[in-house]
Amino acid sequence: MSQTSFNKRLFKFLKHSPTPFHASDTIAGRLQQNGFRLLSENEQWPEKMHGGYCCIRDDGSLLAWKTSDSNSPDTPWRMTVAHTDSPALQIKPLPETRTAAYTSLGVEVYGGPLLSTWFDRDLGIAGRVSLLTEKDTLCIRLLDFKRNLVTIPSLAIHLNRKANDGLKIDKQKQLLPILCQMDKELSFHDIIRRQLQKQYPDLAVKKILGFDLFCYDTQPPAFVGLNKEFITGSRLDNLVSCFVGMEALVQKNISGNCLLLCSNHEEIGSASVAGAHGNFLRSALQRIQPKLFREGPSLGASLLISMDNAHALHPNHAEKHDPGHTPLLNHGPVIKHNANQRYATTCRSTALYKIIAEEAGIFPQEFVMRSDMPCGSTIGPIGATDLGIQTIDVGVPSLAMHSIRETTGTKDPFLLFKTIARFYRRNSLPLVIQ
Ligand code: CO
Repeated sequence: MSQTSFNKRLFKFLKHSPTPFHASDTIAGRLQQNGFRLLSENEQWPEKMHGGYCCIRDDGSLLAWKTSDSNSPDTPWRMTVAHTDSPALQIKPLPETRTAAYTSLGVEVYGGPLLSTWFDRDLGIAGRVSLLTEKDTLCIRLLDFKRNLVTIPSLAIHLNRKANDGLKIDKQKQLLPILCQMDKELSFHDIIRRQLQKQYPDLAVKKILGFDLFCYDTQPPAFVGLNKEFITGSRLDNLVSCFVGMEALVQKNISGNCLLLCSNHEEIGSASVAGAHGNFLRSALQRIQPKLFREGPSLGASLLISMDNAHALHPNHAEKHDPGHTPLLNHGPVIKHNANQRYATTCRSTALYKIIAEEAGIFPQEFVMRSDMPCGSTIGPIGATDLGIQTIDVGVPSLAMHSIRETTGTKDPFLLFKTIARFYRRNSLPLVIQ
Protein backbone atom coordinates (compact mmCIF):
# COMPACT_ATOMS: atom_id res chain seq x y z
CA MET A 1 0.00 0.00 0.00
CA SER A 2 1.32 3.47 -0.87
CA GLN A 3 1.26 6.50 1.43
CA THR A 4 -1.18 8.22 -0.92
CA SER A 5 -3.78 5.46 -0.84
CA PHE A 6 -3.24 5.02 2.91
CA ASN A 7 -3.93 8.72 3.59
CA LYS A 8 -6.95 8.66 1.28
CA ARG A 9 -8.42 5.84 3.34
CA LEU A 10 -7.46 7.60 6.58
CA PHE A 11 -9.44 10.69 5.52
CA LYS A 12 -12.46 8.52 4.73
CA PHE A 13 -12.16 6.80 8.10
CA LEU A 14 -12.01 10.16 9.93
CA LYS A 15 -15.13 11.36 8.09
CA HIS A 16 -17.05 8.21 8.97
CA SER A 17 -16.03 8.34 12.63
CA PRO A 18 -17.44 11.48 14.28
CA THR A 19 -17.87 9.66 17.63
CA PRO A 20 -16.35 6.61 19.40
CA PHE A 21 -19.48 4.64 18.50
CA HIS A 22 -19.09 5.38 14.81
CA ALA A 23 -15.35 4.64 14.99
CA SER A 24 -15.99 1.21 16.55
CA ASP A 25 -18.68 0.47 13.97
CA THR A 26 -16.42 1.54 11.09
CA ILE A 27 -13.52 -0.58 12.38
CA ALA A 28 -15.78 -3.61 12.88
CA GLY A 29 -17.04 -3.21 9.31
CA ARG A 30 -13.53 -3.12 7.86
CA LEU A 31 -12.48 -6.14 9.95
CA GLN A 32 -15.51 -8.15 8.90
CA GLN A 33 -14.83 -7.38 5.24
CA ASN A 34 -11.46 -9.01 5.86
CA GLY A 35 -12.82 -12.21 7.34
CA PHE A 36 -12.97 -11.27 11.01
CA ARG A 37 -15.97 -12.63 12.90
CA LEU A 38 -17.87 -10.22 15.15
CA LEU A 39 -18.59 -11.83 18.53
CA SER A 40 -20.92 -10.56 21.23
CA GLU A 41 -19.88 -10.71 24.87
CA ASN A 42 -23.36 -12.09 25.55
CA GLU A 43 -22.87 -15.29 23.54
CA GLN A 44 -20.74 -18.42 23.88
CA TRP A 45 -17.41 -17.97 22.14
CA PRO A 46 -15.97 -20.80 20.03
CA GLU A 47 -13.80 -23.15 22.05
CA LYS A 48 -11.11 -23.30 19.41
CA MET A 49 -10.39 -19.94 17.87
CA HIS A 50 -8.57 -19.73 14.57
CA GLY A 51 -8.28 -16.57 12.56
CA GLY A 52 -9.68 -13.14 13.23
CA TYR A 53 -12.36 -12.04 15.67
CA CYS A 54 -13.63 -8.78 17.08
CA CYS A 55 -15.97 -7.69 19.82
CA ILE A 56 -17.51 -4.35 20.79
CA ARG A 57 -18.37 -3.32 24.34
CA ASP A 58 -20.83 -0.53 25.12
CA ASP A 59 -20.76 0.53 21.46
CA GLY A 60 -17.58 2.61 21.87
CA SER A 61 -14.73 0.16 22.59
CA LEU A 62 -13.55 -2.47 20.15
CA LEU A 63 -11.25 -5.41 20.65
CA ALA A 64 -9.91 -7.37 17.68
CA TRP A 65 -7.53 -10.29 17.61
CA LYS A 66 -6.02 -12.96 15.42
CA THR A 67 -4.80 -16.16 17.03
CA SER A 68 -2.36 -18.72 15.75
CA ASP A 69 -3.55 -22.25 15.09
CA SER A 70 -1.85 -23.56 18.21
CA ASN A 71 -3.29 -20.84 20.48
CA SER A 72 -1.44 -22.27 23.45
CA PRO A 73 -0.69 -20.29 26.59
CA ASP A 74 2.94 -20.34 25.46
CA THR A 75 2.28 -18.22 22.38
CA PRO A 76 3.34 -14.61 22.98
CA TRP A 77 0.96 -11.76 22.18
CA ARG A 78 1.70 -8.73 20.08
CA MET A 79 -0.77 -6.13 21.25
CA THR A 80 -1.55 -2.53 20.34
CA VAL A 81 -3.94 -0.13 22.06
CA ALA A 82 -5.40 3.22 21.04
CA HIS A 83 -8.49 5.24 21.98
CA THR A 84 -11.65 5.99 20.03
CA ASP A 85 -12.74 9.10 21.92
CA SER A 86 -11.68 12.74 21.55
CA PRO A 87 -12.48 15.84 23.59
CA ALA A 88 -15.86 17.25 22.56
CA LEU A 89 -19.08 18.94 23.61
CA GLN A 90 -21.75 16.47 24.69
CA ILE A 91 -25.45 17.34 24.50
CA LYS A 92 -27.24 17.42 27.88
CA PRO A 93 -30.23 15.08 28.45
CA LEU A 94 -32.79 17.91 28.32
CA PRO A 95 -30.85 20.42 26.26
CA GLU A 96 -33.42 22.87 24.86
CA THR A 97 -32.52 26.39 26.01
CA ARG A 98 -34.50 29.38 24.79
CA THR A 99 -33.15 32.93 24.79
CA ALA A 100 -34.99 35.63 22.88
CA ALA A 101 -36.06 33.90 19.64
CA TYR A 102 -33.18 31.43 19.65
CA THR A 103 -33.12 27.80 20.67
CA SER A 104 -29.71 26.63 21.82
CA LEU A 105 -28.57 23.29 23.22
CA GLY A 106 -27.07 22.78 26.65
CA VAL A 107 -23.74 20.96 26.48
CA GLU A 108 -21.25 19.41 28.88
CA VAL A 109 -17.55 19.48 28.19
CA TYR A 110 -16.25 15.95 27.48
CA GLY A 111 -12.54 15.60 28.29
CA GLY A 112 -10.15 18.50 27.89
CA PRO A 113 -10.76 20.33 24.60
CA LEU A 114 -9.10 23.63 23.65
CA LEU A 115 -12.44 25.35 24.03
CA SER A 116 -11.62 28.50 22.07
CA THR A 117 -11.31 26.39 18.91
CA TRP A 118 -14.98 25.36 19.07
CA PHE A 119 -16.27 28.83 18.30
CA ASP A 120 -17.37 29.90 14.80
CA ARG A 121 -17.33 26.37 13.44
CA ASP A 122 -19.95 24.53 11.42
CA LEU A 123 -20.88 21.71 13.75
CA GLY A 124 -22.78 18.49 13.18
CA ILE A 125 -24.30 16.26 15.86
CA ALA A 126 -23.74 12.51 16.09
CA GLY A 127 -23.71 9.67 18.60
CA ARG A 128 -25.98 6.88 19.80
CA VAL A 129 -29.62 6.70 20.88
CA SER A 130 -31.37 4.07 23.00
CA LEU A 131 -35.02 3.51 22.19
CA LEU A 132 -38.07 1.33 22.48
CA THR A 133 -39.69 0.17 19.24
CA GLU A 134 -43.41 -0.25 18.59
CA LYS A 135 -42.81 -3.99 19.11
CA ASP A 136 -41.38 -3.23 22.58
CA THR A 137 -37.82 -4.17 21.72
CA LEU A 138 -35.02 -2.15 23.19
CA CYS A 139 -32.28 -1.11 20.82
CA ILE A 140 -29.38 1.24 20.23
CA ARG A 141 -28.97 3.08 16.94
CA LEU A 142 -26.14 5.25 15.71
CA LEU A 143 -27.17 8.72 14.69
CA ASP A 144 -25.36 11.24 12.49
CA PHE A 145 -27.05 14.32 11.06
CA LYS A 146 -24.18 14.60 8.55
CA ARG A 147 -24.75 18.30 8.06
CA ASN A 148 -24.02 21.68 9.59
CA LEU A 149 -26.60 21.81 12.34
CA VAL A 150 -25.34 24.13 15.07
CA THR A 151 -22.75 26.86 15.65
CA ILE A 152 -21.26 28.70 18.64
CA PRO A 153 -20.64 32.29 17.52
CA SER A 154 -17.90 34.28 19.28
CA LEU A 155 -18.79 37.57 20.87
CA ALA A 156 -17.75 40.44 18.57
CA ILE A 157 -14.55 42.17 19.66
CA HIS A 158 -16.46 45.47 19.84
CA LEU A 159 -18.46 43.98 22.70
CA ASN A 160 -15.40 42.60 24.49
CA ARG A 161 -12.32 44.71 23.82
CA LYS A 162 -10.19 42.43 26.02
CA ALA A 163 -10.92 39.31 23.95
CA ASN A 164 -7.34 39.09 22.67
CA ASP A 165 -5.78 39.40 26.13
CA GLY A 166 -6.65 35.87 27.20
CA LEU A 167 -10.20 34.69 26.90
CA LYS A 168 -11.93 33.16 29.88
CA ILE A 169 -14.79 30.92 28.77
CA ASP A 170 -17.82 30.36 30.99
CA LYS A 171 -18.67 26.72 30.18
CA GLN A 172 -22.23 26.96 31.43
CA LYS A 173 -23.23 30.22 29.74
CA GLN A 174 -21.03 30.82 26.71
CA LEU A 175 -20.64 27.41 25.06
CA LEU A 176 -24.24 26.71 24.02
CA PRO A 177 -24.47 25.87 20.32
CA ILE A 178 -27.33 27.69 18.59
CA LEU A 179 -29.72 25.30 16.86
CA CYS A 180 -32.40 27.51 15.33
CA GLN A 181 -34.46 30.64 15.42
CA MET A 182 -38.13 29.98 15.93
CA ASP A 183 -41.00 31.13 18.07
CA LYS A 184 -42.63 27.92 19.11
CA GLU A 185 -41.32 25.45 21.64
CA LEU A 186 -39.48 22.54 20.11
CA SER A 187 -38.40 19.21 21.52
CA PHE A 188 -34.93 17.84 20.90
CA HIS A 189 -36.41 14.34 21.19
CA ASP A 190 -38.61 15.11 18.16
CA ILE A 191 -35.58 16.20 16.19
CA ILE A 192 -33.81 12.94 17.08
CA ARG A 193 -36.92 10.96 16.18
CA ARG A 194 -37.13 12.59 12.74
CA GLN A 195 -33.46 11.89 12.08
CA LEU A 196 -33.89 8.25 13.15
CA GLN A 197 -36.76 7.91 10.69
CA LYS A 198 -34.59 9.35 7.94
CA GLN A 199 -31.67 7.02 8.69
CA TYR A 200 -33.76 3.92 9.52
CA PRO A 201 -37.03 4.06 7.52
CA ASP A 202 -38.11 0.63 8.82
CA LEU A 203 -37.61 1.47 12.47
CA ALA A 204 -40.89 2.16 14.28
CA VAL A 205 -39.85 4.24 17.29
CA LYS A 206 -42.23 4.19 20.22
CA LYS A 207 -40.06 6.06 22.66
CA ILE A 208 -36.58 7.51 22.89
CA LEU A 209 -35.02 6.49 26.19
CA GLY A 210 -31.56 8.03 26.18
CA PHE A 211 -28.71 9.33 24.07
CA ASP A 212 -25.00 10.11 23.98
CA LEU A 213 -24.74 12.79 21.32
CA PHE A 214 -21.76 15.03 20.59
CA CYS A 215 -21.10 18.10 18.50
CA TYR A 216 -18.40 17.59 15.88
CA ASP A 217 -16.64 19.67 13.25
CA THR A 218 -18.06 18.92 9.81
CA GLN A 219 -15.03 20.25 7.94
CA PRO A 220 -13.29 17.27 6.33
CA PRO A 221 -9.57 16.58 6.85
CA ALA A 222 -7.20 18.25 4.39
CA PHE A 223 -3.61 18.49 3.20
CA VAL A 224 -2.04 21.86 4.01
CA GLY A 225 1.38 23.41 3.29
CA LEU A 226 3.36 24.45 0.22
CA ASN A 227 4.19 20.82 -0.47
CA LYS A 228 1.06 19.42 1.20
CA GLU A 229 3.31 18.26 4.02
CA PHE A 230 0.69 18.63 6.77
CA ILE A 231 -2.59 16.89 7.51
CA THR A 232 -5.19 18.90 9.41
CA GLY A 233 -8.39 17.37 10.74
CA SER A 234 -10.59 16.63 13.72
CA ARG A 235 -9.98 13.80 16.18
CA LEU A 236 -6.51 12.94 14.82
CA ASP A 237 -5.88 12.18 18.53
CA ASN A 238 -6.47 9.31 18.47
CA LEU A 239 -8.31 8.04 15.41
CA VAL A 240 -5.03 8.05 13.48
CA SER A 241 -3.78 5.32 15.83
CA CYS A 242 -7.07 3.36 15.64
CA PHE A 243 -6.83 3.45 11.86
CA VAL A 244 -3.18 2.38 11.90
CA GLY A 245 -3.95 -0.58 14.20
CA MET A 246 -6.91 -1.64 12.07
CA GLU A 247 -5.00 -1.47 8.78
CA ALA A 248 -2.05 -3.37 10.25
CA LEU A 249 -4.28 -6.12 11.63
CA VAL A 250 -6.09 -6.80 8.34
CA GLN A 251 -2.83 -7.56 6.53
CA LYS A 252 -2.92 -11.00 5.00
CA ASN A 253 0.52 -12.22 5.99
CA ILE A 254 0.41 -12.10 9.77
CA SER A 255 0.54 -15.09 12.07
CA GLY A 256 0.90 -15.78 15.78
CA ASN A 257 -1.25 -13.96 18.33
CA CYS A 258 -2.03 -10.32 17.48
CA LEU A 259 -4.47 -8.00 19.20
CA LEU A 260 -5.80 -4.46 18.88
CA LEU A 261 -7.81 -2.60 21.54
CA CYS A 262 -9.50 0.66 20.55
CA SER A 263 -10.87 1.93 23.82
CA ASN A 264 -13.45 4.58 24.67
CA HIS A 265 -13.23 7.05 27.58
CA GLU A 266 -9.43 7.56 27.57
CA GLU A 267 -9.91 11.32 27.53
CA ILE A 268 -11.89 11.17 30.78
CA GLY A 269 -9.63 8.80 32.69
CA SER A 270 -10.62 5.34 31.34
CA ALA A 271 -12.71 4.38 34.41
CA SER A 272 -15.98 3.12 32.88
CA VAL A 273 -17.68 -0.05 31.68
CA ALA A 274 -15.87 0.20 28.34
CA GLY A 275 -12.75 2.14 29.40
CA ALA A 276 -9.27 0.67 29.73
CA HIS A 277 -9.56 0.62 33.53
CA GLY A 278 -12.53 -1.76 33.12
CA ASN A 279 -12.20 -5.49 32.52
CA PHE A 280 -12.90 -5.65 28.77
CA LEU A 281 -9.41 -6.73 27.71
CA ARG A 282 -8.76 -9.05 30.65
CA SER A 283 -12.11 -10.82 30.43
CA ALA A 284 -11.76 -11.27 26.67
CA LEU A 285 -8.24 -12.68 27.02
CA GLN A 286 -9.53 -15.10 29.63
CA ARG A 287 -12.12 -16.35 27.18
CA ILE A 288 -9.70 -16.51 24.25
CA GLN A 289 -7.05 -18.41 26.19
CA PRO A 290 -8.49 -19.68 29.52
CA LYS A 291 -5.11 -20.80 30.85
CA LEU A 292 -3.40 -17.52 30.02
CA PHE A 293 -3.37 -15.95 33.47
CA ARG A 294 -2.86 -19.23 35.36
CA GLU A 295 -0.07 -21.01 33.57
CA GLY A 296 0.87 -19.05 30.50
CA PRO A 297 4.41 -17.77 30.24
CA SER A 298 3.24 -15.94 27.14
CA LEU A 299 2.36 -12.58 28.69
CA GLY A 300 5.88 -12.21 30.05
CA ALA A 301 7.14 -12.76 26.51
CA SER A 302 4.65 -10.35 24.94
CA LEU A 303 4.79 -6.70 23.98
CA LEU A 304 2.13 -4.01 24.09
CA ILE A 305 2.50 -0.93 21.90
CA SER A 306 0.31 1.89 23.20
CA MET A 307 -0.34 4.34 20.37
CA ASP A 308 -1.38 7.90 21.14
CA ASN A 309 -0.32 11.14 19.52
CA ALA A 310 2.80 12.93 20.73
CA HIS A 311 3.59 16.65 21.01
CA ALA A 312 5.76 17.83 18.14
CA LEU A 313 7.84 20.96 18.58
CA HIS A 314 5.70 24.02 17.81
CA PRO A 315 7.83 26.61 15.99
CA ASN A 316 6.02 29.49 17.73
CA HIS A 317 6.49 27.92 21.18
CA ALA A 318 9.85 26.15 21.00
CA GLU A 319 10.53 26.96 24.68
CA LYS A 320 7.76 24.53 25.71
CA HIS A 321 9.97 21.56 24.77
CA ASP A 322 13.01 20.10 26.44
CA PRO A 323 15.79 21.32 24.11
CA GLY A 324 17.16 17.80 23.64
CA HIS A 325 13.79 16.23 22.80
CA THR A 326 12.09 18.08 19.98
CA PRO A 327 10.06 15.73 17.75
CA LEU A 328 9.27 17.12 14.31
CA LEU A 329 6.37 16.47 11.98
CA ASN A 330 7.14 14.07 9.12
CA HIS A 331 10.04 12.49 11.02
CA GLY A 332 7.92 9.53 12.08
CA PRO A 333 6.59 8.00 15.30
CA VAL A 334 7.80 9.27 18.66
CA ILE A 335 8.74 7.14 21.68
CA LYS A 336 7.38 8.82 24.82
CA HIS A 337 9.36 8.54 28.04
CA ASN A 338 8.49 9.54 31.59
CA ALA A 339 10.50 8.78 34.72
CA ASN A 340 7.28 8.52 36.76
CA GLN A 341 5.75 5.99 34.33
CA ARG A 342 2.99 8.27 33.11
CA TYR A 343 4.13 6.67 29.88
CA ALA A 344 4.75 2.93 30.21
CA THR A 345 7.95 2.95 28.14
CA THR A 346 10.84 1.04 29.74
CA CYS A 347 14.42 0.41 28.74
CA ARG A 348 13.36 -3.11 27.71
CA SER A 349 10.30 -2.12 25.68
CA THR A 350 12.35 0.60 23.97
CA ALA A 351 14.85 -2.00 22.82
CA LEU A 352 12.15 -4.26 21.40
CA TYR A 353 10.35 -1.41 19.66
CA LYS A 354 13.53 -0.02 18.13
CA ILE A 355 14.43 -3.39 16.64
CA ILE A 356 11.01 -3.63 15.00
CA ALA A 357 10.94 -0.02 13.78
CA GLU A 358 14.43 -0.21 12.35
CA GLU A 359 13.54 -3.41 10.51
CA ALA A 360 10.77 -1.38 8.89
CA GLY A 361 13.36 1.28 7.99
CA ILE A 362 12.05 3.80 10.53
CA PHE A 363 14.17 5.52 13.18
CA PRO A 364 12.03 6.66 16.10
CA GLN A 365 12.06 10.16 17.58
CA GLU A 366 12.19 10.50 21.36
CA PHE A 367 10.08 12.70 23.61
CA VAL A 368 10.27 13.58 27.25
CA MET A 369 8.37 16.43 28.87
CA ARG A 370 10.22 19.45 30.22
CA SER A 371 11.15 18.70 33.84
CA ASP A 372 9.23 21.78 35.04
CA MET A 373 5.96 20.77 33.37
CA PRO A 374 3.52 17.98 34.31
CA CYS A 375 3.22 15.04 31.93
CA GLY A 376 0.03 13.65 30.38
CA SER A 377 -0.69 9.93 30.29
CA THR A 378 -2.17 7.23 28.05
CA ILE A 379 -3.70 3.76 28.18
CA GLY A 380 -0.16 2.32 28.14
CA PRO A 381 0.45 2.29 31.92
CA ILE A 382 -3.02 0.79 32.51
CA GLY A 383 -2.31 -2.17 30.22
CA ALA A 384 1.17 -2.62 31.66
CA THR A 385 -0.17 -2.58 35.23
CA ASP A 386 -3.09 -4.93 34.67
CA LEU A 387 -1.45 -7.51 32.42
CA GLY A 388 2.16 -7.31 33.59
CA ILE A 389 3.30 -6.98 30.02
CA GLN A 390 6.22 -4.94 28.66
CA THR A 391 4.69 -1.79 27.16
CA ILE A 392 5.89 1.12 25.09
CA ASP A 393 4.16 4.45 24.48
CA VAL A 394 4.53 5.79 20.97
CA GLY A 395 2.54 8.07 18.67
CA VAL A 396 2.58 10.27 15.61
CA PRO A 397 4.01 13.74 16.22
CA SER A 398 1.25 16.34 16.20
CA LEU A 399 0.47 19.99 16.84
CA ALA A 400 -2.55 21.57 18.51
CA MET A 401 -3.50 18.42 20.42
CA HIS A 402 -7.13 18.67 21.66
CA SER A 403 -7.95 21.51 19.28
CA ILE A 404 -11.09 20.89 17.25
CA ARG A 405 -8.66 20.68 14.30
CA GLU A 406 -5.28 19.12 14.91
CA THR A 407 -2.19 18.87 12.70
CA THR A 408 0.17 16.00 11.93
CA GLY A 409 2.70 15.32 9.18
CA THR A 410 1.57 13.81 5.88
CA LYS A 411 4.17 11.04 6.28
CA ASP A 412 3.66 10.25 9.96
CA PRO A 413 0.51 8.07 10.01
CA PHE A 414 1.97 5.89 7.25
CA LEU A 415 5.31 5.57 9.06
CA LEU A 416 3.48 4.42 12.21
CA PHE A 417 1.51 1.97 10.07
CA LYS A 418 4.68 0.51 8.58
CA THR A 419 6.08 -0.01 12.08
CA ILE A 420 2.94 -1.67 13.44
CA ALA A 421 2.53 -3.75 10.28
CA ARG A 422 6.07 -5.02 10.82
CA PHE A 423 5.29 -5.72 14.51
CA TYR A 424 2.26 -7.85 13.65
CA ARG A 425 4.16 -9.73 10.95
CA ARG A 426 7.24 -10.35 13.06
CA ASN A 427 6.11 -13.42 15.00
CA SER A 428 9.61 -14.77 15.46
CA LEU A 429 10.71 -11.71 17.40
CA PRO A 430 12.46 -12.62 20.65
CA LEU A 431 10.18 -10.64 22.94
CA VAL A 432 12.20 -11.50 26.02
CA ILE A 433 15.54 -9.87 26.64
CA GLN A 434 18.04 -12.08 28.48
CO1 CO B 1 -4.95 10.84 23.01
